[in-house]
Amino acid sequence: MEKKTALVTGAASGIGFAVAEYLYQQGFKVWASDMDISAAEAAVSKMGASQNDVVPTKLNVTSQDDIDTVIAAIEAADGHIDVLINNAGIQHVSPLEDFPVDKWRLVNEVLLVGPAMLTRACLPLMKANNYGRVINIGSIHALIASPYKSAYVAAKHGLIGFSKVIALETAEHDITINTVCPAYVKTALVEKQIADQAKTHGISEEEVIDTIMLAPMPKKSFISLEELCATVGYLISDAARNMTAQTMVLDGAWTAR
Ligand SMILES: NC(=O)c1ccc[n+]([C@@H]2O[C@H](COP(=O)([O-])OP(=O)(O)OC[C@H]3O[C@@H](n4cnc5c(N)ncnc54)[C@H](O)[C@@H]3O)[C@@H](O)[C@H]2O)c1
Repeated sequence: MEKKTALVTGAASGIGFAVAEYLYQQGFKVWASDMDISAAEAAVSKMGASQNDVVPTKLNVTSQDDIDTVIAAIEAADGHIDVLINNAGIQHVSPLEDFPVDKWRLVNEVLLVGPAMLTRACLPLMKANNYGRVINIGSIHALIASPYKSAYVAAKHGLIGFSKVIALETAEHDITINTVCPAYVKTALVEKQIADQAKTHGISEEEVIDTIMLAPMPKKSFISLEELCATVGYLISDAARNMTAQTMVLDGAWTAR
């Protein structure tokens, strides 16, 4: 039987790395993409995978040329993408008045426009095979707001609206699109936020964790990579074939208040 194929963005680090490794362990051929190709190559070595099984792939999700090149490579190699994980992300923390204009636009290009254009490029392949699972890595900030994160919160909220529309547009095929929304996961992106928020608020990094990050979360815990991979595992299972347009919220009851 032909191997199932997954394309993961931002696979060199954090959540993307963990999900790419998980899919590889589940027997998928994985296109492990990242804007940083040497980091993607290092990630594949770290997994102990061959570059045939996990293909390090240069893909800056803000570049239409990169998207077109990667889709052409996949078409030439296998002709199918069963699972797309829209994960690549950046963050910038600043009051709106001081928010650099280019940075605000870039955050939205990476978190919203990129996933939309990559999904757009993958859908013809998914429709041709009458199978596809699109999983967006959203965030608790797709549902709630925090000050100084206007670009990120706007983009992540947008991702949920986008997914609902695409679920309607793909409903006649065996294609689903869902958004996984974790609270904080301790990755490089969050380590940087802890440092940035400490600077912005003039408090220590421990205080950022206790009084800002985990304070609104009744369970007061970082979400683990294992929890996220298992959620992805569910969304790509047959049991979830009618689960589409949904948000899977791993937030320790944050949004219950
Ligand atoms: N870490 C958390 O607490 C948390 C919580 C909720 C949601 N998320 C989301 O999870 C996703 C992954 O975050 P992470 O914490 O693993 O971050 P990370 O910084 O560890 O990894 C992000 C990866 O994305 C890549 N990347 C950045 N811009 C890119 C671009 N334009 N094109 C392609 N690749 C690009 C980086 O090179 C990096 O390898 C993001 O969408 C983030 O918003 C993270």
